[in-house]
Amino acid sequence: MRSFFVSLLAGLSMGLAGAQVAPEPAASATSFAAPAGYVAPAAPKADESNAQRAKSQPGNNAPFWRGVHDSGVQQGISNLPGAEKGVLIQPMVQYPGSRFTTAGEAWRQVRNQWIIPYGGSLIVITALALGLFYFSKGTLGGHEPYTGRLIERFTYFERAAHWCNAAAFSVLAISGLVMAFGKFFMQPVLGGTLFGWITYVLKTAHNFAGPLFAVSLLVVFLTFARDNFPKREDLTWLLKGGGLFGEHEVPSGRFNAGEKVLFWAGVLVLGFVVVASGLVLDQLLPGLAYLRGDMQIAHMIHAVAAILMMVLFMGHIYMGSIGMKDAYQAMKTGMVDEGWAREHHELWYEDIKSGKIPAQRSVAAATAAKPATQL
Ligand code: HEM
Repeated sequence: MRSFFVSLLAGLSMGLAGAQVAPEPAASATSFAAPAGYVAPAAPKADESNAQRAKSQPGNNAPFWRGVHDSGVQQGISNLPGAEKGVLIQPMVQYPGSRFTTAGEAWRQVRNQWIIPYGGSLIVITALALGLFYFSKGTLGGHEPYTGRLIERFTYFERAAHWCNAAAFSVLAISGLVMAFGKFFMQPVLGGTLFGWITYVLKTAHNFAGPLFAVSLLVVFLTFARDNFPKREDLTWLLKGGGLFGEHEVPSGRFNAGEKVLFWAGVLVLGFVVVASGLVLDQLLPGLAYLRGDMQIAHMIHAVAAILMMVLFMGHIYMGSIGMKDAYQAMKTGMVDEGWAREHHELWYEDIKSGKIPAQRSVAAATAAKPATQL
């Protein structure tokens, strides 16, 4: 299986390494193991037509590359460091029902024919579904009268960790979307040069925001893990769809089952996969060879997990902004009205009322709001 992926993705850096290759003649012989049954054509020759082309189109080394590709001669001079230094292209491979091709080409096909169209469609469908939900239900909440008494929902530290992570996520999501889909919706409008510069800047931003996202994601995970542990009431919440399609919300603790699913599936599982594969792509993990095949596998995993994560967090961002009244205020100021707590997180509110959980956990909130005993 792994060799399938390795071969599948092997041509990723052909463009990177190949662009700088001096058209060295095939001094080094074919040294790769061709698949059984593969008959290599003759090695490229500087024939007459090539010589003519070299004069009429200086710099066009397409014939050389065609020769490298057809003959399987894959060694030359490249600026790619590491274990694959000097290897111009990855070995030829053949998959069931397909012709011989470079693994890089196969990787390109997977990206262009699967990840981009299906991933893009998923994002558009999610956006449309959220739009439809908004137009049919409007902003949720506002049924419970506000009392003017405030409860601390998020401490300063919790909000700082959250917004730090959300900022890094936004940079990553925007730059990632432009890198993946920008050529379809930006390049035709902006033109190649401007689009190229913008993408270059965003790609650099993506590489720097990645590690920040990784660290802040870990802090967010540790900060919110305790209150996201599954409880009995979560099953009822899930079975009733949270009451989202009815009149009343199903009672929940500090976080409801929907938030908990997002936490474990989105923050922990997808977050870990996206971060780990991203660190491979940034070549930040020690002890790896970073072969082209490894990078291609990491790229596909990264792209798929990132698209799934974006789709999940589109729902989260919707609910945290226009989808629910005063949810955003909670994450902005840290405080919610008692009425808001009763409407959206009834069990949490009851725990506070009974004194099981303090209404103000931080000193700042305790001095700014009325104490729990007044609830
Ligand atoms: C970028 C825009 C984002 C907005 C507008 C936003 C908004 C919010 C809001 C309003 C809340 C409070 C919900 C409540 O009171 O129950 C919240 C909670 C939370 N957010 Fe975000 N958020 C964003 C991005 C993110 C990202 C990127 C992550 C993590 C990858 C994240 C993880 C969390 C977590 C863990 C909680 C606590 C609730 C829970 O554990 O499910 N948020 N967010």
